[in-house]
Amino acid sequence: MPDLEATILIIFGMTGDLSRRKLLPALYNLVCLGLLDESTQIVGVSRGNTSIDDVFKNVNFPTADLDEKALQTLRNMTELLQLDVDEPAEYKKLASKIEALEAQHGGPMNHLFYLSVPPKVAEPIITSLGENDLNKHPHSGHTVRLLIEKPFGYDYASAEHLSASTAQHFNEDQLYRIDHYLAKETVQNILAFRFNNPIFEPLWNRWHIESIELTATETIDIEGRAQFYEQTGALRDLIQSHLLQVLALITMERPKELNSDGIHESKFQAMSEIISIEPEQIADNTIRGQYAGYKEEVDNPDSVTETFASIKVEINNERWEGVPVVLTSGKALHEKATKISINFRPTAETKHHNVLTFRLQPNEGIELDLRVKKPGFIDEIEPAHMDFSYDTHFNNDRQPDAYERVLVDAFRGEQTLFASTGEVLESWRVVHNVLCAWKQDDQGMQSYDKGSSGPEVSLAG
Ligand code: BG6
Repeated sequence: MPDLEATILIIFGMTGDLSRRKLLPALYNLVCLGLLDESTQIVGVSRGNTSIDDVFKNVNFPTADLDEKALQTLRNMTELLQLDVDEPAEYKKLASKIEALEAQHGGPMNHLFYLSVPPKVAEPIITSLGENDLNKHPHSGHTVRLLIEKPFGYDYASAEHLSASTAQHFNEDQLYRIDHYLAKETVQNILAFRFNNPIFEPLWNRWHIESIELTATETIDIEGRAQFYEQTGALRDLIQSHLLQVLALITMERPKELNSDGIHESKFQAMSEIISIEPEQIADNTIRGQYAGYKEEVDNPDSVTETFASIKVEINNERWEGVPVVLTSGKALHEKATKISINFRPTAETKHHNVLTFRLQPNEGIELDLRVKKPGFIDEIEPAHMDFSYDTHFNNDRQPDAYERVLVDAFRGEQTLFASTGEVLESWRVVHNVLCAWKQDDQGMQSYDKGSSGPEVSLAG
């Protein structure tokens, strides 16, 4: 278990949906695990005059086996600060609050700002933190870090703008851009698997791999987040962010050193080699869909927002040239399944593919699809799976939730599982032309029923 230094966690957007669903439950679990104690202080910044008890009432804490003592500890370490985030002068209140908490603690503490707010709100907050000197710690040996929740911009230009204004006040080593997919166990296992199982290394290239598919289907719909989703859509929500990050881990070269800098360098290189989809390729290399009833749900009869997206990209380097990669995601589908399939090339004699699948969720694990002879006198061959499942192998040991991992890493200054500025900009570049085309009209939009497998067409081979 990592040792966490005494920290003041300042959460912008504590009364929001993410905080209710993921952030506060993750903090509760960290208290249960003994990783956070009352030396940690949490300050929720809120415009309104809400009480902390009202905030806690709506949080998704576990309903079974709730540890009342841990919940009370979390409650005791948390307070709300009413502040108008658009008013730079108001940040003096925050500075005084931090000073008061440090005085109460008996010495300086690290400062961790967590922005769980839309990008348009994030930018003025970052500027105000900088202009009020809250971006640097007055005591040497202590840190100020900034955790930023996705989306990082709405498109390439806005992400570039946000990055530039952030860079005026914070250095890259202070920035922790959350992509919670990077903190999923199976995603962390991608590099461990690739670089610790030498039998796969000679096969990890275009000569042996025919195609790669990354799929994230969800059974949930937009869950009432109409305003957010109308501005976002499936391409931004899952593909530009989570799936392109995961793709970089699958396709990157072995870093010179397997540490945060080395991994970010290789990931950035991998991302920058993904070829942008050109406008004339959109008809053939993308599919978009919208579930029936979506327009009514968001109360916009003209909505062109996709709730299903699939894109095909290629990578411009020696290792991957000509290997199609299909990234697909959709809401309100028949199953929740996030997986990566590596389809190995058949030979002229065998015809069938061996497939290596990383199951991110559910039932996290890795499986290899093989062909075996059926027992008995006949010489029939049939598919079989070599299956590694986390639950079975590790005796159902509890895996930390991705948000717990993200928080612990930010508390201890470990940047590996966060997205760098360069990676984020590259991922916007890849989808830029598609976003521009899709916002014009609904050409090619397929309607699908909730609970179905989505549009009936597919880009996968
Ligand atoms: C979030 C998206 O980033 O990821 C949500 O905004 C989506 O729309 C969620 O439901 C999926 O996360 P997970 O961990 O459930 O796959």
